[in-house]
Amino acid sequence: MQNLTPKQIVEELDRYIIGQSDAKKAVAVAIRNRWRRQQLSPEMAHEVSPKNIIMSGPTGVGKTEIARRLASLTGAPFIKVEASKFTEVGYHGRDVESMVRDLLDKAISMARSEQAKSVKEKAEKIANDRLVDLLLPSTESNNQPQSGPGEYVPADESEERKQRLREKIREQVESGALDEKEIELSVRNKPQTSVMFANMGLDQMDPDMANMFEKLIPEQNKRRKTTVKDARQILIEQETDKLLDQEKITNSAIELTEASGIVFLDEIDKIASPTGQIKGGGSPDVSRQGVQRDLLPIVEGSAVNTKYGVVHTDHILFIAAGAFHVASVNDLMPELQGRFPIRVELASLTKDDFIRILSEPENALTTQQEQLLGVEGLNINFEIKAIEAIADLAAQANATLENIGARRLMTIVEKVFEQINFDAPEMKDAGNTDVQITEQFVRDQVASIVKDRDLSKFVL
Ligand SMILES: Nc1ncnc2c1ncn2[C@@H]1O[C@H](COP(=O)(O)OP(=O)(O)OP(=O)(O)O)[C@@H](O)[C@H]1O
Ligand SMILES: [Mg+2]
Repeated sequence: MQNLTPKQIVEELDRYIIGQSDAKKAVAVAIRNRWRRQQLSPEMAHEVSPKNIIMSGPTGVGKTEIARRLASLTGAPFIKVEASKFTEVGYHGRDVESMVRDLLDKAISMARSEQAKSVKEKAEKIANDRLVDLLLPSTESNNQPQSGPGEYVPADESEERKQRLREKIREQVESGALDEKEIELSVRNKPQTSVMFANMGLDQMDPDMANMFEKLIPEQNKRRKTTVKDARQILIEQETDKLLDQEKITNSAIELTEASGIVFLDEIDKIASPTGQIKGGGSPDVSRQGVQRDLLPIVEGSAVNTKYGVVHTDHILFIAAGAFHVASVNDLMPELQGRFPIRVELASLTKDDFIRILSEPENALTTQQEQLLGVEGLNINFEIKAIEAIADLAAQANATLENIGARRLMTIVEKVFEQINFDAPEMKDAGNTDVQITEQFVRDQVASIVKDRDLSKFVL
């Protein structure tokens, strides 16, 4: 997974995202570069800094989508954060270092599920063992074998009988024959400290302190009635927990974060102050500058304390994005600009792009709609002209209302299907299962709204 060539990465992205080839190429090269770096001698590798990227372009043209797909195809820990959500250290709000902690959390859960796979079989076996124990009639009743009074039962014979019973129950447990039977088991119930303390800002307090707090909270054991089937899941989780090597998980998660983590910094333009603007009151600009200043060391490479240990951010890849309507990339602090050497611009989407977006990607809206209504037993078929009409209406609405890019397709498609979505079950009952989506149908559903500016503002 790690060593896809740039061309292969672009091909993968092409499966979901139409056009924007400059941006795709740039991210593909950035990913390949980090693999290249990993092949170097440690001394040299240390010297090479990641080629961070700034993507600029209007809203809804694929910036976030590219980063998201990229992360899933490289298997790298990935988080998306909004730069505008951060505040300068010392002010109320989230400080920028929290993004590194969030990234590590992602990596921890990735490393954990990776390890969980390797202990899966073992955990399942132990879980089944425990189920057998739970299902076995309790020992007291076993001590009094169901035999007439005075009848002599040799100890080893009852032992043998127990063994046979065990085997029989085990078979039934394993085959799932007892899945619906109810049993009682005790479950550990650790209160979620992160939730409990979220308002107190535990996620931002000193990591050692946070650890201490977590240990202070006692675990509670609760007895719960469940089916064998659910109990098996609970037991597998419990056993997996016991089998996992926490330290190994932590170490590999830190390694994964440092070597291949990706932070997607959305709305970076919101922390840039446009030049020439009169600084009325000054305060928003001060805090924007402050966030940039706080961001810089993380992007440049620094050591961030987390409750799992120190994370070095030197080789984390940052992909920043923003519309840059008001501010431009040059309004960012020079030091920060220097850390984002790759700049790509994403183009506005045209009607032709919309046609392709509606029909080509594997997860295209039209396919989604077909499958959703397929569940209801309807057979949806889009005529090419209908798809063109949707694209055309989307382009029109973007031009007259606000340009929200491909997101407009969702509102239009939703509108086109409004009635069918509602009527689907009855349509099937009435035998109207084949639904042809024609150009006329699309226009009938949407055109009147597009024409009425006030109405469309609200509906589309
Ligand atoms: N080029 C494209 N190809 C296919 N789908 C696209 C494309 N651009 C956008 N989309 C679709 O539109 C939606 C919005 O796109 P995305 O989230 O990438 O916007 P964005 O460029 O990040 O905008 P913003 O600046 O508002 O964050 C996505 O769900 C995606 O499916
Ligand atoms: Mg976005």
